[in-house]
Amino acid sequence: MKKARETDTPISGSFELTPLCNLDCKMCYVHLTDPTVKERMLDGDQWIDLMGQAIENGMMIALLTGGEAMTHPDFKRIYMYLIDQGMSVRVKTNGILLNKGMIDLFTEYPPYVIDVSLYGCDGESYTAVTGHDVFETVTTNVRAAIAAGLHVQLKITPSAYMLPWVDRIMEYAGTLGAEDVNVNVALFEANQDTGRSMEDFGMSLEENARIHRKYRDMFPRKPRSQTEEEAEFMGDIPDDESRIMQRGLSCNGGRTTFAVNWDGTMEPCLGFPRDVICVDVKNIGFRAAWREVNHGVKDYEVPEECHRCSHKDKCHYCPTQHKSFAARHLCNSETCAWMRRQADISEEYRAK
Ligand SMILES: C[S@@+](CC[C@H](N)C(=O)[O-])C[C@H]1O[C@@H](n2cnc3c(N)ncnc32)[C@H](O)[C@@H]1O
Ligand code: SF4
Ligand code: SF4
Repeated sequence: MKKARETDTPISGSFELTPLCNLDCKMCYVHLTDPTVKERMLDGDQWIDLMGQAIENGMMIALLTGGEAMTHPDFKRIYMYLIDQGMSVRVKTNGILLNKGMIDLFTEYPPYVIDVSLYGCDGESYTAVTGHDVFETVTTNVRAAIAAGLHVQLKITPSAYMLPWVDRIMEYAGTLGAEDVNVNVALFEANQDTGRSMEDFGMSLEENARIHRKYRDMFPRKPRSQTEEEAEFMGDIPDDESRIMQRGLSCNGGRTTFAVNWDGTMEPCLGFPRDVICVDVKNIGFRAAWREVNHGVKDYEVPEECHRCSHKDKCHYCPTQHKSFAARHLCNSETCAWMRRQADISEEYRAK
C-alpha cells in the first residue's frame, strides 16, 4: 500500500454498478428511482472495458457496489471477468439476491469478502428502514452463505429511522456467526438527485455517541475505532501523527484507490462530493481520469480551521463528511463536533 501511494498506483477500485435497488432505504445516499437511469447506466461491456483499463494501470482489488450491484443485468459476467483476471473481489450487498445460485457461484469462485448490510432485527424494523419486509429472506441467505463457508461481514448503518431497534440489531448481528460486524460511525449527506436529506435521516451527537459506545462494548475485540477496511483506506500514518497536511488529503482516496460512479464518472472514493472532484472517465479513459483525480486530492487545500484545531492529530479532514462545505474549503461544524467526540471515545477505549 505504501509503495502504491509513493508511485500513485490505483490498486483498489470501487465500482457503483447501478444506482437502482430492490430496497428503498430512507438514508441512502445513492439510490435513484428515476426510470431514465436505465438508459444512462453503463452496460456489462462498458464496465468490463473500464475495469480492463484499471487493471492495465495496476488495479488488484475491486469492490462491486451500488445501489444493489446484484440487480445489474450483467452482474455475473462482470464478476467473472474480474475473477478471471485474478482480482481480489469484494461485494457489497443488501443480501436479497444472495440466493442459492449466487452462493453456488461464490463458492466456486470466491470473493475475498461479502459485506451484507443488515437493516433490521425483524419485519417491522426492516420495513421502517428500507420500505420492505425482507428480514427472513436476508437472514436466511446470510446463514446459508456462512454455512457454505463464504467470508461474510455484516454492516449496520444506524440512522434516525433505525433508532428504536439499533441495539437489538447489533445484538442480533452478533448471533449470526459472521466473521465481523461493523457499525457505520458516520452518516454522510445523500447525493442531491436522491431528494433525501440528512435533516430527516441524521442522528444527534448524543445518539451517535451512545450507539458508538454500545458497539464498542458489544464488540470489544476491536482495538481501534477503525475497521480493517477503513484502516487500509487511511494509510500508514501512525496514530500520534497529524493527518492534517499543509496541502492534500491524507487518506488513500485518489492516491491508491478510486471509485467509479454508476454514470461513468470517477472520484477518489464512494460518495465523494461531485463539486470537489469528479471526472468523466467514460469519455476520457481511465489513465487520464486517474491522473486528474490523483492531482485533485494532492492539491486539495484543507480548511484553515483544521490547522488550528485541538484534534488535528486525531482527525483527518474528509470532504465526504463535509459534503456541501468541501468545495468552499470549509468545515461542517456538526461533523466536526462528532469527529472530536468520536476521537475522544476512541482514545478512552484504547486506554481501557
Ligand atoms: C449504498 S449501499 C450499496 C450496497 C448495498 N445496496 C447495501 O445496502 O449494502 C453501501 C453502504 O452504504 C451505506 N449507506 C447508505 N446510505 C448512507 C449514508 N447516507 N451515509 C453513510 N452510509 C450510508 C449502506 O448502509 C451500505 O452499508
Ligand atoms: S443502502 Fe443499499 S439497500 Fe438501501 S437503498 Fe441504498 S443501495 Fe439499496
Ligand atoms: S474536527 Fe473539524 S476542524 Fe478539527 S481537524 Fe477535524 S475536520 Fe478539521
